[in-house]
Amino acid sequence: MKIIDKKIIAPNVHEMTLAAPGIAEKARAGQFAIAIPNRFSERTPLTLADWDAGKGEVSVVFLEIGDATRDLAALTTGDEMYSFTGPLGQPFDIDKFGKVGLVGGCYGIGGILPAARAMQAAGNEVVAFSEARSSFLLYWNDKLEEAAHDVRYSTSDGSLGRKGHAHDLLAENLEEGEHFDRILAIGCTFMMYRIAQVTRPYQIKTVVSMNPIMIDGTGMCGACRLSIGGKTKFACVDGPHFDGHEVDWDVVLARRKAYLEEEIVAKER
Ligand code: FES
Repeated sequence: MKIIDKKIIAPNVHEMTLAAPGIAEKARAGQFAIAIPNRFSERTPLTLADWDAGKGEVSVVFLEIGDATRDLAALTTGDEMYSFTGPLGQPFDIDKFGKVGLVGGCYGIGGILPAARAMQAAGNEVVAFSEARSSFLLYWNDKLEEAAHDVRYSTSDGSLGRKGHAHDLLAENLEEGEHFDRILAIGCTFMMYRIAQVTRPYQIKTVVSMNPIMIDGTGMCGACRLSIGGKTKFACVDGPHFDGHEVDWDVVLARRKAYLEEEIVAKER
């Protein structure tokens, strides 16, 4: 797949647009693709953040965080991606729920954009929560403000919006009596866990977009398995979206640490 455009949209955050007409034609909000930047790289699942079926283009947003994403980040406009397979996984459950809160952090800010558009098109009132450590780490504010009825920012240093995290802001909104019919969270595991904890006492259906280690992305290897409501599920084919109140977060957090050391020494090796 040819890379049409590649740019850094925030420190360590990359946006890449590829010529992928087959994926652009079939993509639905919430699906992902597996990227292999060169023939020696690992496979990395990336949420489809934007696409244009007419132009045959697909955009993804990723964080440069480990060996495989370093290889991805090394590709630039005009280069060829070795392999980019998708759309994979189940799309978001889109319906007219009423008032929907979409929470995005890190790469998940890109991930909630298609959800905001689809939820708005389905007749929902859409409130987006965009979080980062500082305002200069936020991106796509303009796109989100266009796609959602309201965008609420939170930053750890208080440089934009509420000082703190998205879960602090959501907790505050709920305590003040604001009602949401559904919450959807995409981002780092800890953020999604905290959001699920905040909404649990209010019994608001909270969908989280799980991001375990994946290999094939088609249900064959078992690397992406999760425990959901006491049952084993594969994030790649059964998900990646699950009820955050049913996820066994202890298992998720333990499994994510399995290759920490390998990830650190990979570059040196
Ligand atoms: Fe292999 Fe899901 S990534 S089963």
